[in-house]
Formats: sequence, C-alpha cells, structure tokens
Amino acid sequence: MTVKNEVLHILENNRGSNISGQDLASLLQVSRTSIWKAINSLKLEGYIIGATSNKGYSLSISSDVLSVEDIRPFLKEEYKDIPISIYKTLTSTNTEAKMAILQNAKHGAVILSEEQTKGRGRLGRDFFSPPQSGIYMSIILKPHLNIANSLLVTTATAVAVCLSIDKFSKESPQIKWVNDIYIENKKVCGILTEAVTDFESGTVESVIIGIGLNVKTKENSFPEELQGIAGSIFNTDEGFNTRNQLSAEIINKVLSICESLEDRTFLEIYKERSMILGQDIIFKKNNEWFEGFAQDIDENGGLVVLLNNGQRAVLQSGEVSIRKKNN
Ligand code: BTN
Repeated sequence: MTVKNEVLHILENNRGSNISGQDLASLLQVSRTSIWKAINSLKLEGYIIGATSNKGYSLSISSDVLSVEDIRPFLKEEYKDIPISIYKTLTSTNTEAKMAILQNAKHGAVILSEEQTKGRGRLGRDFFSPPQSGIYMSIILKPHLNIANSLLVTTATAVAVCLSIDKFSKESPQIKWVNDIYIENKKVCGILTEAVTDFESGTVESVIIGIGLNVKTKENSFPEELQGIAGSIFNTDEGFNTRNQLSAEIINKVLSICESLEDRTFLEIYKERSMILGQDIIFKKNNEWFEGFAQDIDENGGLVVLLNNGQRAVLQSGEVSIRKKNN
C-alpha cells in the first residue's frame, strides 16, 4: 500500500474525528512531509479533508469518492482480484469497455467513472451522468453463451441491482420491463447491455453490462425533460457515503447471478418486482403503438402480452408504458 492509501485507510476508519499529522507519521513510520503530500494528493482526488493546525486532519462525513481501495474490501472472495478501473470523467464507460475488450479485457473487469460526458441510454437516448452523484459502471463478461441466453443478462442484471439497492435503502425498487428500475414511480437506474458476437460460431464473445444509477442526484438538477420522471435512491443525506459499497454489492450480485444464468431462478424475483405485470399497457413495435395486457414474463425474459384482439404477443425488446385509466 502507498502512504496515500494508508493515510486514507486510517482517515476512513476515523471518519469525522481528528488525527494529528504527527500521529499519522508515527503510525506509518514516515515523515510529516510525506503525510502532508499524501493529504494534498487525496484532496486533489476530491476527498474532503479538514485540516486544523492544533488538531490535525479529519475526513469529512460527507466525503464520497469512488475508489478501488474502498470497493475491493466489499467484494466476495472469488471476485477480489477482478480488474477495476475508475476514471474522473469519460464519455461513456460502455465505450471505454469496448476499447478494453479490443485489448483483451478479462471476464469480470469493471470500469467506473465519476462522470460521463456522453452517457448512452437505450434506443439512442442520452443518459444524464453528472459528477459525484451516481454510479456509472460497465462490467465486462466473457460468458460463452448463445445469443438467446445472452438476452437474459439484462433481466438478470435488473434483479441484481434491485437486490443490491435493498441492502442500502428502505424502499423496495421495482422493475419496468425490460430493465428500468424505479423507486416511488421515478426511474433511478437504467441498464444498457451491449454484446460482441462471433457470427461464425453464433456465440456471444463478450457482453458489456452498462449500469447507470442515480444515487444522490438532487431532484432539481435533472434536466427539464427528466423532471418528475427521474429520481435518486437517496434524497436525503442518509446515503452520503454508500457509492463504493453499493458498487461492490452490484458487482458481487451481477457476477454471481450471471454465473448461473441458465437456471433462470432470478426470473421469479424479476416477476415479483415487475411494475407492469397484471396491468394494461401500451407498447411500441415497428414504430407503431399497440394496446394490451401484460400477462407474464417468459423463460427468456420476454414480455407476454395479451392483445385487445385476444392474440398473444411476446416482446423481446422495446418500450412499454402503463395505460392510464380513463375515469
Ligand atoms: C437507459 O436507461 O436507457 C440505459 C442507461 C444506461 C446508462 C449506463 S451508465 C454506464 C454505462 N455507460 C453508458 O454510456 N451507458 C451505461
């Protein structure tokens, strides 16, 4: 561990209380200048560290910076060594993941960024990704799946994210087919899965699971078109310092659910969390809107819809909305 990481470790364990430069220097058996340098470089990385001449240094309760050192301890033993890269800013973690795949990225590699300047959503939309308030993450899988089974990755990830949020929030998140996660009727997470396929063998070589979570984005900072539609997991200070742990939890859950994708046990949880099953819906197919009743999720994660003319349709992707009742 570097001096900087050791200083951070001690400050983390004493969050909110002061520790003198002299004590840090003695504990780590380095000079006070080394401590001063480490503190300055942590501040440059965005850590909020108070310094008073007679009391020493203290890491603010509200300091919340994504770091490999703070994520790794929360990973399950079998994932402790996965490669994790964290950036201050990127256009898109999914785009970065594609480049990493070209350079032979390993199964389970994770890319995170504090901010995305061109965050991508489904259907060619943008994903609002302001700094220091969300989790913008891409996980690379080398699954050796056939193309049909790889569609399940998105469904499985939605379940993994819901179960991870459960650990930190009082609210129980729900899933709007295919992969949007809602809390109190506001979208708090979107998932964009992209695959690199080998046409000759008909298998999926790599999958990029892009997860965008609004962790503590302030309501009034969302752009106008998202006002009242997008929300955050935490709207108070309760979740001030959970992004590292929540990221670790999501990585653990996504990697472990995806290991047993083909047994499909997660589909039961997916159905329990569904916002649309048992509801009248409208959906878009080939640029046309249709009405129907959301009846079931099939074994491939497809949405089974009972159409108004009595026929059944199975949707594999697309956009659905709950139909408003006419009074
Ligand atoms: C959607 O809601 O339509 C999907 C949004 C997916 C956003 C995530 S953020 C991390 C990853 N990088 C991207 O550019 N997009 C995904």
